[in-house]
Amino acid sequence: MEKIWLNEAFISEVPNSFQGKVGWASPSNIALVKYWGKKGKQLPQNPSISFTLSECRSETFVSFEKADRFGFNFFFEGKENPAFGAKIEKLLLDNLAFFPFINQLDWKVESRNTFPHSSGIASSASSMSAFVMCLLEIESLLVSPSTGSGTLTKASYFSRLASGSAARSVFPSMALWGKTESYEGSSDEYAVSLSEYIHPVFKTYHDSVLIVSGETKSVSSRAGHALMEGNPYASARYAQANENIKNLLAALKSGDLATFINITESEALQLHALMMCSNPSFILMKPNTLGIINEIMAFRNETQIPLCFTLDAGPNVHLLYPESEAEKVKHFINDKLDAYCVDNKWIADRVGDGPKKLL
Ligand code: PMV
Repeated sequence: MEKIWLNEAFISEVPNSFQGKVGWASPSNIALVKYWGKKGKQLPQNPSISFTLSECRSETFVSFEKADRFGFNFFFEGKENPAFGAKIEKLLLDNLAFFPFINQLDWKVESRNTFPHSSGIASSASSMSAFVMCLLEIESLLVSPSTGSGTLTKASYFSRLASGSAARSVFPSMALWGKTESYEGSSDEYAVSLSEYIHPVFKTYHDSVLIVSGETKSVSSRAGHALMEGNPYASARYAQANENIKNLLAALKSGDLATFINITESEALQLHALMMCSNPSFILMKPNTLGIINEIMAFRNETQIPLCFTLDAGPNVHLLYPESEAEKVKHFINDKLDAYCVDNKWIADRVGDGPKKLL
């Protein structure tokens, strides 16, 4: 057990009067270099880098009360939903050794997302990191509050145990998760903030999420990671991801948008190519995904505006561009791209500041 995460000051018995409610909002994130393939206990096969978003968030409230035994109820958007709560319940039960108060409390967790459930946006990164922020706050109410940057590292560590990509959501602007020689202090166990490292142009980047389909994904990320184990291109992929991390880090520092675009688009296509050549194989892009990609490439060639796309493990397209081009790109979306979207729907998101306390 990694002792550094155990707050030694904790008194073994939770006082009878201990009860309350805490609340945190935490954002989703979009990876530029993708995490696809894991090993050991939720450790990544290769490092990944993401933008922390702002508008796509989970808002989670936890009510707690001293009890004789562990109790757990989970509500999603006002309705009890044990299936959605299962990952959180497992996180709690798996980590009693770090948080010895867990089984002395009755837990009521209420969560909602600011983005529509049918938008195809994965919510595990936002919901898991929002819950972990609540968990750490409850810990700090019992023992002398843990403060400072170490707290976010601890939040990242436990978010990772619930959902790998959630490790990156706790930091503002951008985060790097996974050990790489190209960045001192990087770790497979938690993400590190890139906020102070990156060129200012990336701190106000936009991400317009073009909703091509609202269907839930046909392959869960858990199954997708597992399929990498038998993928014949796995080792070439991990080598390539490491190379992309090195070059992207350099571009993020200098503000080199051409390299940023080249790596970001290549990573999105590689993620989908890996799924296409796994066994069984998956094609997660839809015809309109390709339609949008072609429009973006043509528009960039024509106008020289440095916009680019990335994809998650699904058909929706994340359109990334600097703040200085926002007006022109908005016209482009309204003129050309929203016709490819379900009910012309897209979400205007942008780089954000990380979790926020709600209560
Ligand atoms: O955190 P998970 O297990 O849901 O995996 C996320 C995988 C991708 O979203 C496809 C890539 C990434 O790095 O976020």
